[in-house]
Order: sequence, then structure tokens, then C-alpha cells
Amino acid sequence: MSPANVAAAKASLSIRLLDRHTTMSDGSRRYLPINLREKLERFHDHWSPRVIAQMNDYQFKLARIQGEFVWHSHADTDEVFIVVDGEMAIEFRDGCVELKTGELFVVPKGVEHKPRAHSECRIMLVEPYGVVNTGGQGGALTAPNDVWV
Ligand code: NI
Repeated sequence: MSPANVAAAKASLSIRLLDRHTTMSDGSRRYLPINLREKLERFHDHWSPRVIAQMNDYQFKLARIQGEFVWHSHADTDEVFIVVDGEMAIEFRDGCVELKTGELFVVPKGVEHKPRAHSECRIMLVEPYGVVNTGGQGGALTAPNDVWV
């Protein structure tokens, strides 16, 4: 992503943050929380993360996953998986971690991993702006980046 595109994305981010309020009759603002379940109802495709918030250069993304993803790694960053609802597993070349609702795992940078879920699982990912879901692997499951919901 070019520096100009990054600047544009950050400018639109500020607008999104300031937009999250309603103005009361006395002129005060009531700021609105971001509700994970409500955001998850807005999309239903699998393996296609949607951004719901950003903190500095890190984005919080929601995804619905089902079936097997592809082996991949992220050369420059760790990746956080938080299970919002359901059960999933992350395979590594030397083992596996099983996660259920309310559990979290940090995949270290550079470590090959393959997420999978037997039935649909809803997760939150936390990772730096610009991380591609399939790492350097490419392929049909590569999702567009920086798609907000
Ligand atoms: Ni990954």
C-alpha cells in the first residue's frame, strides 16, 4: 500500500471514529460502542475478515470461518485469534491448538499455520494494518484488505 493510500485510510478512520455518536437534544453526544454480534450479522461469507476498529496501526477484524484455510505465515507480524462464538483449531507443522468461545491464541510471526473449523466459528483477529490473510501464499482464499463493516 502506498504512503498516500495509508494517509487516506487514516483520514477516513478519523471520520469513522467521530461518526460513532448521536447528538442529544441538549447538544451533548452519546458515543456508541461497537457491538461484535451486531457487526457479525452484517456479513455471512467465510474467510473474509471485516475491520471493525483500529487502534494506532492495529486493526480489529471479525471473520466467519468454516472448513480448512491454507497453510501460510506472516513474515513481519504475530497474529491474534480470539474466538467470539464457536470452536476452531489452528494447525502448526508440529502440532495444533484448539480454541473455543472466549479463548485467545497468539500465532508468532513467521510460524506456518492453518486455521480450520468443523462448523462455522466466529472470530476476531488483531493484527497490524495491511496484513494479508493468506500471508505470502496467495490463492483463492486471499481476501481484500481494509474492508470495514
Ligand atoms: Ni494467518
